[in-house]
Amino acid sequence: MEKILTGIRSTGTPHLGNILGVIIPSVGIVNRNEKHSSFIFIADLHSMIQINNIKTIINNTYQIAAAWLAFGLNTENCFFYRQSDVSEVTELAWYFSCFFPYQRLTLAHSFKNEISKIDKRKISMGLFAYPILMAADILLYNAQIVPVGKDQLQHIEITRRIATSFNQRIGKKLFVLPNAFLQKKTMSVPGTDGKKMSKSKKNWINIFSSDEILKKQIMSIRTDSKSLEEKKDPETDYVMSLYKLIAPLDKIDKMKKKYLKGGYGYSEAKIALYELIIHKFSTERKKFFSFIKNKSLLDHILSLGAEKAKRIANERLNDIRKCLKLKPIKSN
Ligand code: ADP
Ligand code: TRP
Repeated sequence: MEKILTGIRSTGTPHLGNILGVIIPSVGIVNRNEKHSSFIFIADLHSMIQINNIKTIINNTYQIAAAWLAFGLNTENCFFYRQSDVSEVTELAWYFSCFFPYQRLTLAHSFKNEISKIDKRKISMGLFAYPILMAADILLYNAQIVPVGKDQLQHIEITRRIATSFNQRIGKKLFVLPNAFLQKKTMSVPGTDGKKMSKSKKNWINIFSSDEILKKQIMSIRTDSKSLEEKKDPETDYVMSLYKLIAPLDKIDKMKKKYLKGGYGYSEAKIALYELIIHKFSTERKKFFSFIKNKSLLDHILSLGAEKAKRIANERLNDIRKCLKLKPIKSN
């Protein structure tokens, strides 16, 4: 069986994009995968680049953990941990930083997009080195399959380059080249403004918010200005785009017909989407709220996961150290 690994940053509560694009497909693979071949982690070190307040990161970490568990992640079958609890990853990131060309990193979207937006003096080294830490996350365990959304493809490509050049440098195939695992339909779930749903853009639909807030988010989905009577285009409308990702085929067909016939308003379509989400995710929402109330259980689960992952990470890091002619370290 192939090793799978993925991470979600603790920069907020997971939204519908994270859930449809990564959480649901990953839980399916992890729960079917051979024991201890899957790594699911919360990328809190990556979050520090964006969020200064550690308390916020810690609180978000619980939100991400509760979401994975609400969607049925079997933590007995995988390594489920906080990135910062397995510090071996930062050492590996340093080795990669020492030889990976600076010039190549300046081309990474994560850096290029931000540098065009914010004052250059506010750009941290962490943001610049973001893809290096992500490569270390993946290559530390030699994961072969990495479920991600479309926006992460370039990072996986950089990871493959790092693995190739490191292997060449030491003359040994120490790192396998990972592949991104994408779901065609859900690799870039649109937000309420039609652009990729994202925590930073606040265009999200958060199924783990209260009914009232969730409804408000859905009612805010941008539409054109067609009147209730007019026929509507089910191929371009954002409410319909989201409905199609969740509803069964017969319901999608019915909704399409209503759009094409006219006499069906966008607010009715939004209510239908809201009701569908409430119905479809009712179990997960209940489970999420119960996990989020039990932080000590979440801490316990994540600590157990980290302990197990650390053993593998330590062994792997010692192999890497050996290739670099460095002394091995003992795990504590
Ligand atoms: P965000 O982009 O909202 O800050 P993250 O960067 O933490 O979320 O993303 C966690 C995972 O979810 C990544 O694999 C990312 O590609 C995926 N993802 C994020 N947004 C979407 C989306 N709108 N559709 C599909 N996948 C997404
Ligand atoms: N960069 C990813 C994101 O922004 C999060 C992440 C960090 C990740 N390390 C990873 C995803 C390793 C997959 C594998 O969403």
